[in-house]
Order: sequence, then structure tokens, then C-alpha cells
Amino acid sequence: MLSWDEFDKEDQPATPAAAAQSAQPAQANNALNDQASSAVEDARQVNADDSDAVARAKAALDQLDIQEGLDDLEGAAARVQVGDKQMINARADLNQLVPFKYEWAWQKYLDGCANHWMPQEVNMTADIALWKSTDGLTEDERRIVKRNLGFFSTADSLVANNLVLAVYRLITNPECRQYILRQAFEEAIHTHAYQYCIESLGMDEGEIFNMYHEIPSVAKKAAWGLKYTRAISDPTFNTGTVETDKELLRNLIAYYCVLEGVFFYCGFTQILSMGRRNKMTGVAEQFQYILRDESMHLNFGIDVINQIKIENPHLWDAEMKDEATQMILQGTQLEIEYARDTMPRGVLGMNAAMMEDYLKFIANRRLTQIGLKEEYPGTSNPFPWMSEIMDLKKEKNFFETRVIEYQTGGALTWD
Ligand SMILES: [Fe+2]
Ligand SMILES: [Fe+2]
Repeated sequence: MLSWDEFDKEDQPATPAAAAQSAQPAQANNALNDQASSAVEDARQVNADDSDAVARAKAALDQLDIQEGLDDLEGAAARVQVGDKQMINARADLNQLVPFKYEWAWQKYLDGCANHWMPQEVNMTADIALWKSTDGLTEDERRIVKRNLGFFSTADSLVANNLVLAVYRLITNPECRQYILRQAFEEAIHTHAYQYCIESLGMDEGEIFNMYHEIPSVAKKAAWGLKYTRAISDPTFNTGTVETDKELLRNLIAYYCVLEGVFFYCGFTQILSMGRRNKMTGVAEQFQYILRDESMHLNFGIDVINQIKIENPHLWDAEMKDEATQMILQGTQLEIEYARDTMPRGVLGMNAAMMEDYLKFIANRRLTQIGLKEEYPGTSNPFPWMSEIMDLKKEKNFFETRVIEYQTGGALTWD
């Protein structure tokens, strides 16, 4: 806790001139400005007792071309009007956060901050004992823990790198950038959480972190996502044409709808199912916090995609709709393959066939969220308890309506 007691003495003005200045009421703005600029010039004078280094620093500032610096700033040099703001290809100054155009983006930033948590807050003692015991978990259950820590430990880095190195500079709206910065930090917390689980359980770090190179069902998902990062991460890539705007849209669909919207769901379901059976409850609690964050990342991404469609309807043509559908179906297929690899037999009250139904149910939801038609009609949810944990039906405004319950450090329960 900070104490301000030591800082509560009024500073005495150093010179009579400064005393006069501080006493002056704010009456003549121009006179005040003149006074200020001559004071600034005085500050730049080299004095006899200035060291060589100080003298050189002052002289260097005389050479500073302020206009050149300002010209480098993104956007127009005018006060921002809401109407100038747009999701991509905006001309408004990106360093001015307000006035807001997308209140939902700012609200999600606030909600994300209210949900702040850290991996060390979760007690891992029972998990360590269970993992180290010889008969606590079956081989199939151990495979699920390892595969999922293997997939997720690098998947969140892929998401974070895509955000920071590819997406961030192309989203030309400051309130959305503010959320993206929050999301990027949350992805760092997620990677930290996986590292914390891996370290706590005493796993072979090399085996787990390199799994996305070594295990085909994990590698395929990573490679599928990386293709879309590569498409827009070239520093010379820019939006502004129909083709490049569509390329950004493809990336957003790949990461928000597929990576964070489909690829995470088999693993989340498996680990949360363990938690419900009182096994690996620390790991499961970490995953539950992560799922809560991911639901918000997903909703933010869906809102961004739909906003880009509203502002640029020409991008959302038949070809783009077909491509988006194909991407979600490809992602679903890869996740079904991952389910079969992680569950060669029934385990934890579920099996690969049930997971396949669940993933088709999730895919239908992702398709309709961005305005496409369901491709797996008649699919129902075999894991209704997953809906209770994050409630798909209320997904759109789940956190907005319940944020009060998610203040920093709030505990999760398995009731
Ligand atoms: Fe994440
Ligand atoms: Fe995420």
C-alpha cells in the first residue's frame, strides 16, 4: 500500500519569479504562453556548470524537428470525430482513444481487467500427488493431460504472436486495440498457466512444449493456424484493397472462429470433465479461468468480424462466405481428428463419437455467429454441463450481464 504522508508538504517556489508565476490567476492565456515559451528557451541555455554530456543533450534538442516526429504519427492530425473511426483502413488519429465508436470493445476491455487472475493463485497440491501416484490416473487419462498441455502450451503463443505481430497494426481502431492489448496479456497468462502446470507436475518440458512438432494431431492444428499468420505478418503487407482486406478477414476467422472457437473445445471439455470427477482439479481450475477468458476473446473477434462486414459489405461476397464456411469445416475436421487421437477409447464418461457431435454443435454455432448457415443440421449438444460452465446461448452477453461476479481474485467453484 502506498502512503502519501511523506509527499504532502507543499513545495516552496525556488525563485521569486516562479513564486509570482504560481500566484498568477489564469487570466491572460496568451501572456502565459509567451512566458512559458521564454521559460522553455531559458531551460535550454547551456550554463557554465553543465557537464559536456548535459550540454550535448541540450544542443541535440535544438536540432529536433518536431514536425517530422508528428508526421510519423498514424492518422490525421485533427481532433477525432466518431464518424472518422472505422475498424480497418481508418484515417482518424489512432493515439486518441476517445470518443468511442465501439462501446462494446471498451466494455470488453473493462470486463477483461475485472476478470484478472494469475496461475499461482490456484492450488496444485492435489494434482501433484495424483500425477505422481502410480494408480491415481489411468493411462488414457494421463494421455489426455499430456496431449492437452502439449497442444495448449504453444497454441496460446501462436494466438499471441498472431495478435501482436500481425493483427494489431491492421485494426485501425484505438478501443479495439486497447482490448487486443488486454487479450495479448491474457494469452501470456495462459501460456504461463500451462508452464506452471507442466512445472508443478514435473513433466518433461521438452516433450510437452515440442509436441506441436512431434505429434501429428497437434502439429496439424498449429500448421493450419500459422498459414494465416504468414499471410499478413509481412511488414510490407497492408490492407486497403479488396484482396488484402479479405486476407485480414481470413486471418480473423482463422484465429477467432477456428483456433479460439473450435480448436480449444475438445481439450477444454476433456480437462473440465476431469475436474468434475475430482481429478486434476488444479489443472481443471486453470482451464476454467482460461475458458472464461477465451469466451470473451471469441465474442470480441466475432464482433470485430461482423463490424468489418457491416462497414465493408463488398468483402462479404459469395466467394468469401464459401471460404469462411470451408475454414470452419476444415477446423472442425482437424479437431475431430484430435479427439480421436486423444481418446482412442471411451474415457471420463465420453468418447470420440460424442466429442464429434459436440464439435459439430460448436461449428454450427460459429457459422451462425458470423451470419453463415449451419452445416451440421440437427446436431445436439452431448455435454450440456459445458453449456452450464460457459453458457453458449448467453455467450454474446454472458460477461456483460454477470461481470460483477468476476472481480479480481474471485474463486471458482465446481458446484
Ligand atoms: Fe488463450
Ligand atoms: Fe484467446
